[in-house]
Amino acid sequence: MNNVDRLEVHPRIIAALKKAKLTSLATLLCMSAADLERATKLSFFDIAILLKAVSYSLPCPPMRTALSLYNIQAKGEGSPWGHKLSLGCQILDEFLHGGILKQGITEVTGESSCGKTQICLQLCLTVQLPEEKGGLEGGAVYISTEDVFPSKRLHQLTQCFAKNQASHPSAVKINFSDNVFIEHAADVDDLRNIINHRLPVLLNRGAIKLVVIDSIAALCRVEYSFGETSKRANVLRSFGAQLHKLSAQYAIPVVCVNQVSDVIQSDKNSGISDGKQRSVIPALGMAWSSMVTMRLMLSRTEQLIQPLNQALDGRDIDPVIKRRLRVIFAPHLPNSTCLFYVSGDGVHGYKENHQERE
Ligand SMILES: Nc1ncnc2c1ncn2[C@@H]1O[C@H](COP(=O)(O)OP(=O)(O)OP(=O)(O)O)[C@@H](O)[C@H]1O
Ligand SMILES: [Mg+2]
Repeated sequence: MNNVDRLEVHPRIIAALKKAKLTSLATLLCMSAADLERATKLSFFDIAILLKAVSYSLPCPPMRTALSLYNIQAKGEGSPWGHKLSLGCQILDEFLHGGILKQGITEVTGESSCGKTQICLQLCLTVQLPEEKGGLEGGAVYISTEDVFPSKRLHQLTQCFAKNQASHPSAVKINFSDNVFIEHAADVDDLRNIINHRLPVLLNRGAIKLVVIDSIAALCRVEYSFGETSKRANVLRSFGAQLHKLSAQYAIPVVCVNQVSDVIQSDKNSGISDGKQRSVIPALGMAWSSMVTMRLMLSRTEQLIQPLNQALDGRDIDPVIKRRLRVIFAPHLPNSTCLFYVSGDGVHGYKENHQERE
């Protein structure tokens, strides 16, 4: 019985609700106290009692204590944040305590060429792996808003990834290239249409376990002028709310790529130094930041490092650029930094006094 009859309030209040044809709890929760007062002609105190009774009648998950959370982690009984999506590299997964969160929006931000797209492409492959290998046993939707989708690079990564997987004793046969669905959004309206209409249809089929938007910033920064920041903030909030809803409803991670803005001199302390002379902050402002669950920032350094892995034909790989992956904020991780590099076969963590705590 999901209606007002089960509320523990005076029968007079229930009679007033029925007279006003307010019989569903959902309707009551969507109305303000003043509207309820007007509709039912009940007093302010009756409405306060009513709203309290409605909120108590809703099922809520059992309360978790700090000790129980600690015990779950300490005994290795899994993460209180649930299963994570692996990045496909042991060092990076260890650094992120298993990978990216299955719930909410994970943002990957950084300057051009720092490796944002490479990480997203790699996630599109790891998501297809079985759960015991860090995947979510499903495909990915890649919503591309910038240039053309890097299909050649995905093909190269897929071949290396499949070869790597096949060399494991417990290899699983997956046709990795068959499970990445590409959408292209040319403007904000296109992106809205994809997020609000096309994505729910695709997700409803149950085969998709990861949504990537590369990038959320490209369209919003171009389409709104300096004087339209509040309009842009509203659009970003509505995108964020819809992505959170889809993530919760289908239990899938959403990864959004963001760009960065330079910090002007007088505001230097609020920025995040990229290791060079200048500092940058993620673009799109507070309206978008407040929608992000976990923010990762990538940067390139000037230094070269020798990769630990070898090319597929067994040769050593030429030195590659050393890059940094920073956790700016996350509900389950401290601010910390890890090194990584990008090579032909993907993104790899790199240990050299590996984790620098901030
Ligand atoms: N096959 C490859 N072998 C080695 N490195 C590669 C390969 N393909 C790409 N890279 C490296 O990846 C970097 C580009 O990364 P990526 O496209 O992910 O950047 P991005 O952060 O998405 O940039 P943008 O903001 O411009 O889209 C290049 O610097 C390049 O060095
Ligand atoms: Mg990119």
